[in-house]
Amino acid sequence: MAPPKAFVFDAYGTLFDVHSVVEAGREITQEPQTLSLTWRQKQLEYTWLRALMGRYEDFWKVTEAALRFTVRRLAITATEAQLGRLMEAYLSLAAFPEVTATLERLKGLPLAILSNGSPRMLEAAVHSSGLGPYLRHVLSVDTVKTYKPSPAVYALGPKALGLPAGEMLFVSSNAWDVAGAKASGYQVCWCNRANATMEELGFRPDLTVERLDQIPGRL
Ligand code: LAC
Repeated sequence: MAPPKAFVFDAYGTLFDVHSVVEAGREITQEPQTLSLTWRQKQLEYTWLRALMGRYEDFWKVTEAALRFTVRRLAITATEAQLGRLMEAYLSLAAFPEVTATLERLKGLPLAILSNGSPRMLEAAVHSSGLGPYLRHVLSVDTVKTYKPSPAVYALGPKALGLPAGEMLFVSSNAWDVAGAKASGYQVCWCNRANATMEELGFRPDLTVERLDQIPGRL
């Protein structure tokens, strides 16, 4: 792998720990893990479906629709105020424990986020996690009104940073996002935090780590 000239990070699950969303779920169910997994999967499905339908709604609306589907599917009773608190959890996320130290080590090069998140959601998470000072760009799909893995989304990185995709390292914990970024020409690191299985989409990461702090030593 050629030494990267910039780093582009996925947001949710890669930099930001969505565990607090699971915690918020305890208020309405004894199985917050099931709620959280179903919600996340449906959230992603809706991004893919809306992208294919050409019916973009921002990630806040998609996330809320996915939550409403999930509580109905799991037959959970929840008030509007309780659903509101679950949504609010997205606005006060923490970074994973190793993230700040890793960005500190990498900060000689331009660092950016490229995410499905709406600008307001990303701004809130960047603020609550304290990562703002490290990030040169926070890029949202909202600019192009579609979702990952559309090439139009991944093209935002080279455009903002003024470098070809192949000279940057895209870092994501989502296997399908790894495939999408590879398909768009990035060098890609898979941060496989959860011992997941790589997708069968014909693309493999250039580098696989379990935590972001393993990246500097592997370059
Ligand atoms: C994002 C989703 C994929 O931040 O986690 O884009």
